[in-house]
Amino acid sequence: MHFKRTHKCTEVSNVAIGSSVTVMGWVSKVRDLGHLIFVDLRDRTGIVQLVMNADDKENYVIGQSLHQEYVIEAQGIVHARAEGMANPNMETGAIEIAVNAIHILSEADTPPFVVSDQSNVKDETRLKYRYLDLRRNSISKNLMVRHKIASLARRYFEENGFLEIETPILTKSTPEGARDYLVPSRVHPGTFYALPQSPQQYKQLLMVSGMDRYFQIAKCFRDEDLRADRQPEFTQIDLEMSFVDVDDVIAMNEGFIARLMREIRGVEISLPLPRLTYAEVMRRFGSDKPDTRFGMELCDLTEVVRGSAFSVFSTAIENGGSVRAIVVPGGSAMSRREIDGLTEYVKTYRAKGLAWISLGETIKSPIAKFFAEEKLQEIIETCDAKQGDLILIVADKNKVVFDALGNLRLHVAKNLHLIDTSKWNFLWVTDFPLFEYNEEEGRYTAMHHPFTCPRDEDVELLESAPEKALAKAYDIVLNGYEIGGGSIRIHRSDMQEKMFKAIGISPEEAEARFGHLLEAFRYGTPPHGGLAYGLDRLVMLLCELSSIRDTIAFPKVQNASDLMMNAPDVVEEKQLKELSLKLDLPKETE
Ligand code: AMO
Ligand code: AMP
Repeated sequence: MHFKRTHKCTEVSNVAIGSSVTVMGWVSKVRDLGHLIFVDLRDRTGIVQLVMNADDKENYVIGQSLHQEYVIEAQGIVHARAEGMANPNMETGAIEIAVNAIHILSEADTPPFVVSDQSNVKDETRLKYRYLDLRRNSISKNLMVRHKIASLARRYFEENGFLEIETPILTKSTPEGARDYLVPSRVHPGTFYALPQSPQQYKQLLMVSGMDRYFQIAKCFRDEDLRADRQPEFTQIDLEMSFVDVDDVIAMNEGFIARLMREIRGVEISLPLPRLTYAEVMRRFGSDKPDTRFGMELCDLTEVVRGSAFSVFSTAIENGGSVRAIVVPGGSAMSRREIDGLTEYVKTYRAKGLAWISLGETIKSPIAKFFAEEKLQEIIETCDAKQGDLILIVADKNKVVFDALGNLRLHVAKNLHLIDTSKWNFLWVTDFPLFEYNEEEGRYTAMHHPFTCPRDEDVELLESAPEKALAKAYDIVLNGYEIGGGSIRIHRSDMQEKMFKAIGISPEEAEARFGHLLEAFRYGTPPHGGLAYGLDRLVMLLCELSSIRDTIAFPKVQNASDLMMNAPDVVEEKQLKELSLKLDLPKETE
């Protein structure tokens, strides 16, 4: 370098016309007009235009040799652009730098794609060359927001007396319920560390140790199927507090959310946030992470159609299930083919079919023949459907009905553009069931994790009716995404024993899996609870993105590989030997 940089590219727009500046960055675009060369120079902040005149031979020649992605430094004077040449779409669109001196700092091969927000590049190519992809403002701006959120979290929780404490990455299996990533131990052949699915046990141990309020921006690892809002390696804003109950944790986090929305989006949200019980959100939205930006709430038809001649409905009800519906406003305009498409859609959620009543000029429905005229009217009235609407009905076990209609509600609303995307609908879901029935294993398992505290009034139910027991657990939801979750924990061993008994974990098994934690709890444990946000999801929603991939500098693809580093990869025989490992690969991968 011959110069010292004085400004980042877009900072030049704040400089007085006539000032001398030195900028450095990448060549984004070169336009040679014969006697004038314009160069778009890019850095992290954005783009500024350089201009070189043919009268200045020395610099002009360098200008002519520039190609995309060359790294250069340029010194020059800030000019207002000529009349009619200003670009209102650019932060620096009113000015340009008339170059006095320019040097090439490094040349560049032709990149595999044009580094521009406009270029349409295949995902695989973008991720293989992620370092080039990150030069694009549409991606780099997300990392800047991510940084701001992390930094705000540090400030907020520090101001509220939280200590940032790191916890180990090489550790033991945690009970979050996903598959673990394992790391073989060289020193202890045949044994494995597990990468943490969350710092859950450590943060509880930190409460036992008297740290009072803990916080961490923590890497978590879960070997589960990827989705748009799931990565195998993701980050939590993780926290835990001593001597608190549900309201304290919620109030602390509402303060954080309000601050986050104010500082990141300039939006004032009103507190307290709505709190809905799990039972209510399932009944109204068929989902434990409801999107409340639009209506189309579920309607229960069970009582209206009980004992009907349509055996699909009556059998579902006899088997303890239900019949529920959603009403699509203006949906009678949908064609048979479109409705068939919706039927296929609900089948992916294990519904066996989709009954419908279309309220067009005349009432059309494949199930009309099973119901008397008045009954059909009663169904329509119960759904509060109007002329022009379409009623969509599913009958099944509750779990299937909620899952199918909850997802169908979202699917239809997206397709018909019924969602007001200017809204920021935060809400708490509280009073989750303590247990869920695991049909494969034929027993109850903890819905959150086995250290989650039951509600005070439900302790008795642990033995008598575990399916009715509710937990001091809460999730925070934004626009249909679960952005965080947590609970008040069990801090007494008598309660913990009851909990293990209810989920069929024997004292021996409890000792083997969680002995270290249970022992710690015997030395004096403060009542405590906490919460963890998915940082990646927060960034995704605050940046209005559709995938958490674009919030992560180096994300993994669908099959959990890192295309840039080419990971995972084979290792040398010698390394396996040191770890006392022998591979036993399935035939096709050999
Ligand atoms: P939970 O398992 O609900 O709770 O995780 C907390 C939050 O982390 C985010 N999240 C994910 N984000 C991206 N990819 C994933 N694979 C992924 N899995 C989870 C979600 C979720 O709300 N230890 C408890 C918290 C506690 O009880 O304090 C825990 O980990 O946004
Ligand atoms: P069928 O008499 O089997 O042709 O079914 C009549 C209508 O009921 C069709 O629209 C089916 O998609 C629908 N249907 C079938 N099973 C269910 C179900 N479990 N819940 C709701 N509708 C169903």
